Amino acid sequence: MLIVGLMSGTSLDGADAALVEIGGTSMEDIRWRLRHSVTLPYDDTRRARIHDAILAGTADALCTLHADVGEWLAEAALQVCADAGVPVEQVDAIGSHGQTVWHRPPANGRRGATLQLGCPATIAERTGCGVVSDFRARDVAAGGHGAPLVPWVDGLLFADATRARALQNLGGIGNVSYVPPRGSGTGVFAFDTGPGNALIDAAVEIATGGRHRFDRDGRLAARGTVDEKLLGELLTHPFFGRKPPKSTGREEFGRPFVQKLVESTAPEGDQDWLDLVATLTELTARSVAEAHQRWLLPLGVSEVVLTGGGARNPTLMRRIRELLDPVPVADGAGLGVDVDAKEALAFAVLAWAHLCRIPANVPAATGAAGPRILGSFTPGAYPPRVP
Ligand SMILES: Nc1ncnc2c1ncn2[C@@H]1O[C@H](COP(=O)(O)OP(=O)(O)O)[C@@H](O)[C@H]1O
Ligand SMILES: [Mg+2]
Repeated sequence: MLIVGLMSGTSLDGADAALVEIGGTSMEDIRWRLRHSVTLPYDDTRRARIHDAILAGTADALCTLHADVGEWLAEAALQVCADAGVPVEQVDAIGSHGQTVWHRPPANGRRGATLQLGCPATIAERTGCGVVSDFRARDVAAGGHGAPLVPWVDGLLFADATRARALQNLGGIGNVSYVPPRGSGTGVFAFDTGPGNALIDAAVEIATGGRHRFDRDGRLAARGTVDEKLLGELLTHPFFGRKPPKSTGREEFGRPFVQKLVESTAPEGDQDWLDLVATLTELTARSVAEAHQRWLLPLGVSEVVLTGGGARNPTLMRRIRELLDPVPVADGAGLGVDVDAKEALAFAVLAWAHLCRIPANVPAATGAAGPRILGSFTPGAYPPRVP
């Protein structure tokens, strides 16, 4: 099968698409190859549309966003096929995560709720492909958090024969999957480590009045000096000490966090801002490294693999490497995935699981009552294409 996976993450940087070749129909005989991947960057207008619609939260704004994101995801799907030289007619299905607009975990006996937008009918109409979408809903309906979903794919695709791996993704938020050796009898487990790029992005945006959205190649952080006293205070945030499983979001580690910090530290000149970016970069590196040291390395992890946009920040990567030394820290290339493509790849594989009727949640990670087949199916071209 040829499947396109689509993802629009919380950083609002763009829509990621991965074209994946998948063979086999069971967890035992799956074979896969990432054929190609692209990110369709969101320009300021699109980014503002998503941001403003979520902030406004009106039925009109969200309804319009649903249709718009559907169009943008369809564009990304068509783009990855065009770039790979694969006619879209050859694609068997699309797996679309969509754009999360709200996520409320279960609490106090009340089940959770989650909403990802990006109209699957629009994607089906524009591409002619059947679309599997709304992956989180079923797990949430079964009492789970509907997240994280990627660890199941991590265990399936990236388990090594003999060594345990930790797969750390650095999107807006940082999250890690512990992947035990294949056939070890232990399961995958996963948790959020804290901020990924979200704090760095927010600081850069505030510092530049919105002219820049992220610290390209970690250059600003490299020119700043870490404020050790401030860093020490920030590291006392209760989230870092909490035992996994645990999850967090931009509500906790996002713009409001940085806004408060800016109010209390009152940066004045350029150097103050560089120091703040350096301190937040160091906080991110320390929170990742310490999570690994406390909860993963004792399990015998012999390799850490970093993916997500944060793997493109050399200052952040270097510090995580130094802090975890002598455990090797690689980027996604060693696993055969581009660092930007891993989440989109995961949703292609989750679509495959849906089509093969394979349950793909990890109840131990999500808290769901049991295994469930994830996603809803929207048929493709009508009349159906003859294979
Ligand atoms: N060259 C780069 N240098 C530094 N940071 C980068 C670079 N490229 C991407 N990033 C960071 O990665 C983020 C996007 O990462 P991504 O994995 O797409 O997150 P999400 O899943 O939240 O969309 C950007 O907001 C930025 O912070
Ligand atoms: Mg992204």
